[in-house]
Amino acid sequence: MAESENIFLKAKHRTFSGLTEDAEHKWTGPFFFIQAADPQLGLMKAWRDGDCDGGGEEWAEEVELTKQAVEAVNQLRPRPRFMVLCGDLVHAMPGTPFREGQEKDLKAALKGTDPSIPLVFVSGNHDLGNTPTPSTVEQYCREWGDDYFSFWVGGVLCLVLNSQLFFDASACPELREAQEAWLEAQLSRASSSSSTEPKPKHVLIFQHIPLYLKSPDEEDDYFNLRRTVRQNLLDRFKKAGVKAVFSGHYHRNAGGCHGGLDMVVSSAIGCQLGEDTHGVRVVVVTADNVIHRYYSLEQLRARGLDEDLKKLLQA
Ligand SMILES: [Fe+2]
Repeated sequence: MAESENIFLKAKHRTFSGLTEDAEHKWTGPFFFIQAADPQLGLMKAWRDGDCDGGGEEWAEEVELTKQAVEAVNQLRPRPRFMVLCGDLVHAMPGTPFREGQEKDLKAALKGTDPSIPLVFVSGNHDLGNTPTPSTVEQYCREWGDDYFSFWVGGVLCLVLNSQLFFDASACPELREAQEAWLEAQLSRASSSSSTEPKPKHVLIFQHIPLYLKSPDEEDDYFNLRRTVRQNLLDRFKKAGVKAVFSGHYHRNAGGCHGGLDMVVSSAIGCQLGEDTHGVRVVVVTADNVIHRYYSLEQLRARGLDEDLKKLLQA
């Protein structure tokens, strides 16, 4: 299959086929997209068995949930401009037995997505390993495209980041350095007031691990980024005018807006670790705001977008 035709490999050369700056730098009015996370094929069985590091030898439930998500998203009108999956695409870590089968079945489920809705992939800890190596990153990129890149949609600049390089880059320090240099260039580009380059209407970030779950100064834990790393990113994101950071990883809805930056933590398409439902988030982008709402898969399929969100899109 040619690279350009492969819907799973559109993120290449640090940009995204069809959603380039040239094609999409102009603001053309409000639009919406879908943000989802953690289909994580295999976790539901592993969680029930209490073996979350291994296990995961069955994943029919997550395949079904992913298909439901695709079906619900396909019937939305107007259509979303893209759907982003914020990591933990599958549960099986790189090089473990069920990896190939899970990736194959996830792709089969996602293939039903309407061709007008590009699929944007973000790497999670299960996709890369908790301590990624050059080899696990390469394996990921072969299946799902670049692990970090930028793209444009209707005048909005989006940055997809590999948060595993913020979490533990001890086995691939050179990859962390490369992402850092690239990110710095992207952020300074975002805030530059050069007259020759289009200024983005908004800047949005997508990564797997949340900067924080509730508050920027909360303690470190498994589900957030370390305080020193977090503060550094928060400062740089704010300086560049980043409006929102979208993440998954927590398998619960959480987050909060502090100092003008909205940290959005979305629950999972797959296994729930709290009281939320299997679902996806609808994100409406207007000239002034980024408004988002989590929908259960059932709710989205039965009712579509709420009227107030539809109204924002017509403005
Ligand atoms: Fe996860």
